[in-house]
Amino acid sequence: MSQETPSSAAIAAPAESGGTEADAAAVRASSDQPARQGDAFENLLHEDRRFPPSEEFAANAVVTEADYAEADADRPAFWSRQARELLTWDQDFTQALDWSTPPFAKWFVGGKVNAAYNALDRHVENGLGDRVAIHFEGEPGDTRTYTYAQLTDEVKKAANAFESLGVAKGDRVAVYLPMIPEAVITLLACARIGAVHSVVFGGFSADALRSRIEDAEAKLVVTADGTYRRGKPSALKPAVDDALSQEGSGAGHTVRNVIVVKRNGQGVDWHEGRDHWWEDTVGAASTQHTAVGHDAEHPLFILYTSGTTGKPKGILHTTGGYLTQTAYTHRAVFDLHPETDVYWCTADVGWVTGHSYVAYAPLINGATQVMYEGTPDSPHQGRWWEIIEKYKVSILYTAPTAIRTFMKWGKDIPAKYDLSSIRVLGSVGEPINPEAWMWYRDVIGGNRAPIVDTWWQTETGAQMIAPLPGVTATKPGSAQTPLPGIAVDVVDEQGESVPNGSGGYLVIREPWPAMLRGIWGDPQRFKETYWSRFENMYFAGDGAKKDDDGDIWLLGRVDDVMNISGHRLSTTEIESALVSHPAVAEAAVVGATDPTTGQAIVAFVILRGDAVDTGDAMVQELRNHVGQEIGPIAKPKTILIVPELPKTRSGKIMRRLLKDVAEGRDVGDATTLADNTVMQQIAASLKK
Ligand code: WTA
Repeated sequence: MSQETPSSAAIAAPAESGGTEADAAAVRASSDQPARQGDAFENLLHEDRRFPPSEEFAANAVVTEADYAEADADRPAFWSRQARELLTWDQDFTQALDWSTPPFAKWFVGGKVNAAYNALDRHVENGLGDRVAIHFEGEPGDTRTYTYAQLTDEVKKAANAFESLGVAKGDRVAVYLPMIPEAVITLLACARIGAVHSVVFGGFSADALRSRIEDAEAKLVVTADGTYRRGKPSALKPAVDDALSQEGSGAGHTVRNVIVVKRNGQGVDWHEGRDHWWEDTVGAASTQHTAVGHDAEHPLFILYTSGTTGKPKGILHTTGGYLTQTAYTHRAVFDLHPETDVYWCTADVGWVTGHSYVAYAPLINGATQVMYEGTPDSPHQGRWWEIIEKYKVSILYTAPTAIRTFMKWGKDIPAKYDLSSIRVLGSVGEPINPEAWMWYRDVIGGNRAPIVDTWWQTETGAQMIAPLPGVTATKPGSAQTPLPGIAVDVVDEQGESVPNGSGGYLVIREPWPAMLRGIWGDPQRFKETYWSRFENMYFAGDGAKKDDDGDIWLLGRVDDVMNISGHRLSTTEIESALVSHPAVAEAAVVGATDPTTGQAIVAFVILRGDAVDTGDAMVQELRNHVGQEIGPIAKPKTILIVPELPKTRSGKIMRRLLKDVAEGRDVGDATTLADNTVMQQIAASLKK
């Protein structure tokens, strides 16, 4: 921790980030200067633009204002009612919440429930077997439709196949799949038998996959030969082979079997005895399988996410509370009418949004959903709108980065399609700037569909702050209000609630059903990362501001976590990857504001004395190296080779100053630098 300025020293940084930069950013967030840029944010904040629901929408909304009062009166009782109404329990719970050993919560104690039974079998038993669960649209244009009855059979087959390969309750299954129905089938099959899935996004490299497989000690890997990306086949299986190869693995892994979905037909290497085609194992399995209830606190999944250190955290979620809150929010925030709505969430199953709002909540709620494999511009830039017209999508859930990309492509493209089916628009993953919000409303929502901006995290498991579309008068750019039963606040450095009109740190004051139950294998890190900054509060890592009405505006991360196109990446993780290259002596990474992706990765690199600076070729090599170490999504947009890095006297890199350089601003206060000529040296080298 730097001792340089009293204001930064006064803030206790979370143990994990331990430093000056987090503090500096936090000070900015807690001052009256929001960290958001790109639009005249401050003006928009005070501009009184509101969009109340139409009378008709409000009259037909599935959730009303009454939920807030009910939850305020008795939070655990409110969630108990939701748990009993939204889920079918094999054994009722005896206690809503056990918070006797914080921060370790137990929800719905004593209850037994099966996630897959709730997502599938019970709908078939209730006569909904013929309702479409998934309309799948492959990138090349192939389609598949699964009714609830068909999806139930597929999940039962997969459950039998996994069990026949020795996977039992509590075992971990690594999943490395594209956006195809088998991904949802695999997750639900794991949940059915009580196995714990750990999905690794297909954009991560073999090395990243290996470390996650090893950390979770997975027994089975489910993957595919590959997928399609912009009209071309793209491989997945080689990364699995590489991750499981002897040379690469340090401690060794525990994987006995690999199941491979045949998706794009490209050739694969085959390991006899270990590898099995999906069509042979799952395809041949029986459709007879009885689901039994698992304990409400039985682990459902692990999902690795970037923290402020180099090592990703395995976020652990359990069953009863997670299912309750994802199902409730999906119904309330999207105003879901499952008989008539067609829902489409564009998130990949590799991220938490693809878990909570593709694999679980829509199926628990008996909804019909669209699933799309590919990119928005393949084979043309109107692909999404074509899909919406074709399936009459009524609820669309996507990320601001996508909306800004469509803005760039122009409104003439969506104008060619009939989007009149759209009723509700959702946003997630990063702050949505008011311009993008207005464009989304006008061009996609026909100035009619309410927008719900939903704030949440991998750790929270489900949406936490969002408008209710039939209740809230929405404001462009604000996530607005904590959902019923959720206790969010904005506090100052001392943990005191800030008054309306001020900024600070976003915290959660009370346990919530879908909260993470820990970090896989590391309870100490769980406590330090989230619960040590403020007493008895969960610290989310985000800065936020309450406006004059008390509505919440998210201001971005106050720690060393970046948000690139809604994907979380840590600066430290990318620095470690760069430093592992033989030519690199030191590296510092910052997230610079980017008009399309929210933030873009900018790296400052010092080469080793004996390395030859080959200019563009070196930059390209370093970018590829990061791609190999972490994955293509982590490749820096810009790499600047510099003679020095700005450091405090205690040796901490001052990323804030580098951010000023990366964003083309005048460099801010540099008086705490150990060597105050460093910024001039950097500027001189960049001019060259
Ligand atoms: C950011 C994604 C502003 C935030 C579900 C958070 C948002 C991080 C919003 C979590 C939003 C997510 N407005 N910022 N509506 N939604 N974020 O774990 O910084 O991938 O801490 O979960 O994304 O990212 P994660």
